[in-house]
Amino acid sequence: MANLSSLLEARYGITSSGSAAPPVAPIAVNPTLEILLQHKSVRNFLPDPLAPGILELLTAAAQSAATSSNLQTWSAVAITTPSLKSEAATLCGDQGFIRAAPLFLIFCADLARLTTTCEKHSTPGIGLEFLEMYTMAVIDASLAAQNACVAAESLGLGTCYVGAARNRPRELASLLCLPERVIALFGLAVGQPDVGGPAAAVKPRLPQSEMVRRERWRKSINTERKEQAANLTAYDEALAEFNKKEGRTNAPTWTERSTDRIATIESLHGRDIFRSVLEERGFDLK
Ligand SMILES: Cc1cc2nc3c(=O)[nH]c(=O)nc-3n(C[C@H](O)[C@H](O)[C@H](O)COP(=O)(O)O)c2cc1C
Repeated sequence: MANLSSLLEARYGITSSGSAAPPVAPIAVNPTLEILLQHKSVRNFLPDPLAPGILELLTAAAQSAATSSNLQTWSAVAITTPSLKSEAATLCGDQGFIRAAPLFLIFCADLARLTTTCEKHSTPGIGLEFLEMYTMAVIDASLAAQNACVAAESLGLGTCYVGAARNRPRELASLLCLPERVIALFGLAVGQPDVGGPAAAVKPRLPQSEMVRRERWRKSINTERKEQAANLTAYDEALAEFNKKEGRTNAPTWTERSTDRIATIESLHGRDIFRSVLEERGFDLK
C-alpha cells in the first residue's frame, strides 16, 4: 500500500518552496483512503463490456449514499447500447471517451417520483415548486454519483464525469425520454482503463487553507486577500509543474484557465439556457 506522505504529495503537488501537502498524521493508510487520495479521471477506455453484476453493484453503492430526508430525489439512466451512447456522446460535447466507455451513466435530478407520491396521496406537493427541492435533488444525485465513482475505482475501473450533459439539455432529455420534473445533471463514463493509452495521473488540488477555513471564514479582509493571493500563486505553480510532467507545454495557468471558463456566455457551452429548460421541464424555482 502507498504511504500517506507520497499520496498527499501527489494530491497537492510540488512548488518551488517544496511540497504543498499538509503535514502527515501518524495514520495508517487503508484501501478506502488510498482510493480516494489517488482519484484521477480516466478518458482512455477499453471497449470491453463491464462484467455482469457491475452495474447493479454501482447502483447499490450509489443508493447507499446519504439522501436528504430519505427522499431519494435522483435517478440515473445507464446507457450501454453503442448507438444510443454515441448519440448521447454527440450531445455531451462530442467527447470520444463517452463512446469508448462501455457504460455511460446519466445522473438526473428527479422530482417526478415525489410528484407521483403527491398524486397517490391527493396532495398538491407545494414544496416541489421551490428552488430548494431542485437543490436537494442536485445534492442527492451528486452524492449518489460520487459513491458509484468510488465503488468503480475500488474495482479497478476508470471513470470520468461529464458536465457536458448540460450542454444541450432539451435534446438529451428527448433522446433519453425523460419525463417531466426529471433533468440530466451530469454523466459518468465508466470502463476498464486502457493502459496502452496515456496514463491518467493524480492532479494536484488547491492548498487546504484555501478550501477549509478554521471556525470562521474571515480573518481581516487584508489577511484574507494576501493568503488567497499566495494560495492561488502556489497552485498555479503546482499545476504548471504537473502539466510539465504530463508533457503539456504552453498550458494556461489554473487561474487563467478558470477565468476563461467563465468569461462569457459562450464559455458556458450552451448551458446558459439551463434555467429555462428546467422551467420547461416542470421544475418551479420559486
Ligand atoms: C461535475 C463534473 C463534470 C465534469 N465534466 C467533464 C467533462 O465534460 N469532460 C471531461 O473531460 N471531464 C469532465 N470532468 C472531469 C474534471 O475535468 C476533472 O475531475 C478535473 O479536471 C480534476 O481532475 P481529476 O478528476 O483527474 O482529479 C468533470 C468533473 C465533474 C466533477
